[in-house]
Amino acid sequence: MQPKKTNKSGQQKRNPPSEKARGPKRPDKTSMPKPRPERSSGPRDQNEDRPRNKNEGRSRNQNEDKPRNNNEGKPRVARPDHNQQSLPKKEHYERGPFKGPTRPYDANKLKSKTDDERVQLPSEIKLPTPLVNAWRETLIKISKLPPGTNPKDENRNALAGRILASQSSDISHLWETFTTERGELIKNLLSTKRMAAAYLGGFHLANAARVQMLLDRAEKRSNLKNVVVKHGGHLVWNDFGCGTGAIAQTIAAKMVAWKPDMSADFHLTDTTATLLDIAELATRSSAPNFKVLKHKKAIELSSIESMMKGKDHTLFGYSLGYVWNELKKNKKAQRHLLDLFNQHIANKHEVLIVILEPANQIIARDAMTLRNDLVAQGYSPVYPCPSSKSCPMLERSRDWCFSEGSWTSPLLMQNIEKNLGIDRSRFSTSAYLFASPALSGKILPTGKMPPVVVGRPQKISEKGLPIRGFEMLLCDGDKLFKKPGSTGKNFLMRGQQSNS
Ligand SMILES: C[S@@+](CC[C@H](N)C(=O)[O-])C[C@H]1O[C@@H](n2cnc3c(N)ncnc32)[C@H](O)[C@@H]1O
Repeated sequence: MQPKKTNKSGQQKRNPPSEKARGPKRPDKTSMPKPRPERSSGPRDQNEDRPRNKNEGRSRNQNEDKPRNNNEGKPRVARPDHNQQSLPKKEHYERGPFKGPTRPYDANKLKSKTDDERVQLPSEIKLPTPLVNAWRETLIKISKLPPGTNPKDENRNALAGRILASQSSDISHLWETFTTERGELIKNLLSTKRMAAAYLGGFHLANAARVQMLLDRAEKRSNLKNVVVKHGGHLVWNDFGCGTGAIAQTIAAKMVAWKPDMSADFHLTDTTATLLDIAELATRSSAPNFKVLKHKKAIELSSIESMMKGKDHTLFGYSLGYVWNELKKNKKAQRHLLDLFNQHIANKHEVLIVILEPANQIIARDAMTLRNDLVAQGYSPVYPCPSSKSCPMLERSRDWCFSEGSWTSPLLMQNIEKNLGIDRSRFSTSAYLFASPALSGKILPTGKMPPVVVGRPQKISEKGLPIRGFEMLLCDGDKLFKKPGSTGKNFLMRGQQSNS
C-alpha cells in the first residue's frame, strides 16, 4: 500500500477534497455520487442533506474553521463545471477492510450555508412507526451483533442503537464515499454484507422519507388513496434497482395502511445479492401478507412479457428509486423500461409509476426529460406537476424542478446524524408519480390544479441587484411566474401547491 500524501496541515490530500475543488453543492447522500451541478440564478439545487452547522448562533469571527461565503449579497454567477473532478486513486478502495476514518468527518469545512439554506422549513414528514420498527427489526436481523449482546434480553431500540453505534465508522466511510465517488465503486462497496448493513443503518430511512413525502403529498392532492382502497383487483408492484428496498418498503407500508387486506405481489430487482436479501426482509416486515419475490438480474434482462401478465383488473406499479441516472450509460435498460411502460399503455392497463432522482441540475433535468417522455406516451403526472402538458421549466436551460421536504427523523437516526455532523431534517429530491390513462381519470381531480412551487429565487432590487428575501417561483403547467414569498406557518416548500 502506498503511503498517503498529506498537505501542510497534515490532512490527506484527496480525501475529502476542499470546498474549492468540490464546489459547495454536494450530491444527494442517500443516492450514488452524481455530477456536480452548476449554480443558477433560478431554482437552486437543494438536494443535500444539510451539514449541521455547529457554529449556528456564533459570531462570524468565532467561525474561523468555517469557509466564509464571500458571495453573500453579490449576484450569483455560474460556477465552473465540476464534472471533470478526478477520482481518488483506486488503491484507496482496495486497501483492505475499512478501519474507519482517522478523524471525524467535518462537513462544515466543506460547505457554508447559503441564504436559501438558512430558510427554516416547517417539519412535514414523519415515517409511520410500523415502518421504522420494520426497518429496526431488519437491521437487527442482518447485522453482526456487537460482542456481549443477547438479542432476546435487550430492548429493541437499545439493541438497534448499539448496532448503529458499532456501524458508525462504516456509515461515515459510506458517507464520505457517496460525497466524493461514483457508481461502480459504490456498487462494489455495497456488495459486502457488512457495508450493505451499514447502508441500511445509515441511509435507508432517508430515502424512505423521500417516498413518504411523495405519497403523502399525492394523497392530499388527488384521489389516489380512494382509487387504491376501492380497487377490487390485485396489485403487482415492481421495484427496479431496489437496493435495500427503501422505496418498495415504504410503498408497501402505505398500501397496507390504506388497505390492510390488500392482495399484492412485490417484485424486487437488483444486481446485488446482499442488497436484495435486505430489501426482501424489509418489505416483508412491513407487509407480512404480501408476496415478496426477489430477482437478482439486470433490469434490461427482465422479461417484459412476464411483467405484462396480470389477472383481469390488476393494478400495476413500478418504482425507480435513484436508478434512472445510473442507467444513463445503459441505453438498453432505459429503452427497455420505456418500452415496458408503453406496452402497458397499449394494453390499457392501470399503472402507477414512482420515480425518484437526485435533485441536482443535470440529473433533475434528465428526470424532467423522462417525465416529458412518459407524458408523451400518455401518462399523467399525479405529483408534482399541475398539468400533463410539456414541462415549461425544461425550456429554460438553467432551471430545474425538484421537491423539498422536511423530516423529523427517528431518534435512532438522529444519533447517526450527530456522529456524522450533518442535519438531514431538510432534503430535496426529484420525485414524480405518474398514472396511466386508464387510471388518471379516476385519480386526478377535475378542473385546473393549483400552481406548484418550483423555485425560491432571491429578490431583486429595482436596480437589478439581489436583495434580502425570496420570492416564490410557481408553475401552473403552462408557464412559470413569480409571487411574493410565503412566510411562517404558511411557508411553502418546492413541490407544494399554492392555493392562494
Ligand atoms: C442508488 S441505488 C438505489 C437503491 C434504492 N432504489 C433506493 O432508492 O434506496 C441504485 C440501485 O440500482 C441498482 N442497479 C443499477 N443498475 C442496475 C441494473 N441495470 N439492473 C438492476 N439493478 C441496477 C444498483 O445495484 C443499486 O442497488
